[in-house]
Amino acid sequence: MEWSAEDRVFVLTGAGISAESGLATFRGSGGLWDGHRVEEVATPEAWRANPELVWRFYSMRRRDAMAAQPNAGHKALAMLEARLGERFYLCTQNVDDLHERAGSRRVHHMHGTLFMSRCVRCGELFADREMYETAAALPKCGVCGQAVRPHIVWFGEIPLGMDDIYDELYQATVVLVVGTSGSVYPAAGFVEIANERRIKTIYVGPEEPLNAYAFDEIVLGTAVEVLPGLVG
Ligand code: APR
Repeated sequence: MEWSAEDRVFVLTGAGISAESGLATFRGSGGLWDGHRVEEVATPEAWRANPELVWRFYSMRRRDAMAAQPNAGHKALAMLEARLGERFYLCTQNVDDLHERAGSRRVHHMHGTLFMSRCVRCGELFADREMYETAAALPKCGVCGQAVRPHIVWFGEIPLGMDDIYDELYQATVVLVVGTSGSVYPAAGFVEIANERRIKTIYVGPEEPLNAYAFDEIVLGTAVEVLPGLVG
């Protein structure tokens, strides 16, 4: 695809862009972890009922993300940013750090990040790459002593930095969505907002998302197959 000097590109990525790095998507493969539905370990209710289970889930995801490497899809987006600079913005629903490790800089993690934790009481936020896998190992806040939770946006919680996301979305000339099933809002609604503003919309993934009808263009294929050619 040709990019002009006037283009501002807003990219939204989902679990699919990290699939070819070996990280499981949510709704693929039955969406199960250790016999639990993902929704059962990624909610405030799950945290209240069983923080040890929740920390085991996110510890496993930390371990998997650390072992994974960025793929050609992540790298293609980083190369597009290198060309467009401030006219490129990447909003990801993913909590892994593969976009950053591929070289992307203007990345916003709307659903939080695996490698930060925060205190449930005082909100103290800190970088954290530890695994917590037993009740005795559960972390406590260094400031106030209360429980520490993953810095992840769970079902029923409000995504991070929505004002900045909408600011960027409104200014875009192209919205490129990669590897998300279109089932979780507000991210699934970005394409409708783009349509109201006559912004061109493109979806890349191996199958149509739930909101496929809303896109101007659908390119069927994996992120690794499609992105290097599309953004190159
Ligand atoms: N390349 C591109 N897309 C792919 C690939 C691939 N190699 N493999 C799978 N996909 C697509 C699937 O077709 C599917 O549409 O990625 C999408 C993954 O969808 P989900 O598993 O629903 O993931 P996502 O849309 O990111 O989930 C949204 O839900 O559980 C919450 O907070 C979590 O951020 C997550 C949100």
